[in-house]
Amino acid sequence: MSERIPMSMPFGWFQVAYSHDLEAATSMPLRYFDTDLVLFRTESGEAKVLDAYCPHMGAHLGYGIRDQAGGGASVVGDSIVCPFHGWAYNGEGQCTDIPYAKRMPPKVAKGEQVIRPWPVRELNQVIFVWYHPDGLAPYFEPETIAEAHADNDEWGGLKLHSWDINTHLQEIGENAVDPAHFLYVHGTQNIPTPDVMEFDGVYRRGKLVSKMATPRGEIVGVIANNSTGPGQATVRFSGICETVLMANLTPVDKENSRAFYAFIQKKVDGKEPVGGVADAIVKDICKQMSEDQIIWSHKKYFEKPMLCDNDGPFAKFRKWYGQFYA
Ligand code: FES
Ligand SMILES: [Fe+2]
Repeated sequence: MSERIPMSMPFGWFQVAYSHDLEAATSMPLRYFDTDLVLFRTESGEAKVLDAYCPHMGAHLGYGIRDQAGGGASVVGDSIVCPFHGWAYNGEGQCTDIPYAKRMPPKVAKGEQVIRPWPVRELNQVIFVWYHPDGLAPYFEPETIAEAHADNDEWGGLKLHSWDINTHLQEIGENAVDPAHFLYVHGTQNIPTPDVMEFDGVYRRGKLVSKMATPRGEIVGVIANNSTGPGQATVRFSGICETVLMANLTPVDKENSRAFYAFIQKKVDGKEPVGGVADAIVKDICKQMSEDQIIWSHKKYFEKPMLCDNDGPFAKFRKWYGQFYA
């Protein structure tokens, strides 16, 4: 915690990679939640996450050697094999092999967990990890986004963008309930009108109606934004070019976050739209991120901001967000 950002990291499901980042029988290092981790995919295709450091002598499992150099440690069957002395670990954190030992250490012989496994879910072409500072088990699930299903022929592929942002997740999330900043930070034509804003358990659902100037004249666009916990958000733009944005946020540490943005656009006559309005939407959102980033990187969190009548429902948002702190 710092003076500028006095919050700890929230718990929930957080994106750590896209499915296509990780082929079968490969691994890679991760650094999120102020923790060194290794992500690997078993030969049978399951994604697994463990603490990074081998309990034998502390090698990092995310860095392979020799023909594995430049990638992670090798994966054999269901286990990742430490590059240092060849001990192997499955996704449940058990040691499955010490190739040169005649007598196994007691914990290994008993099949106990010797390295911390992290809960993983893979859906929407995304790999999510459950983070909880006290190690509590997941009590909700990430939301399935039908448009992001790899077999959904009506929608195009993922168009990817990402940002490393020098602030806390909550500060980024608060943008969604702040209609006034669109006019000042993003130069929209007016302050968009919030239509719906619901807070329901771990879910938040909002809808904004915004007038947008396009080459085809002024169009009323509807922006529906939903969150599941602090890490997963989905924004659906309709009115001009049907676009779904998976806007997932992950804590790197207490003051730094990574934003994974994947745009999916509805096919027109069986083809993914290119150029024109389709590209303009993506470009505009990316432009907005770089504008927001200047504010986020330098602003301070005020627990009691001085608000006025047309500000968004910040108190409700913060109350909702508060449920994700241990
Ligand atoms: S440090 Fe991993 S096997 Fe020795
Ligand atoms: Fe913004």
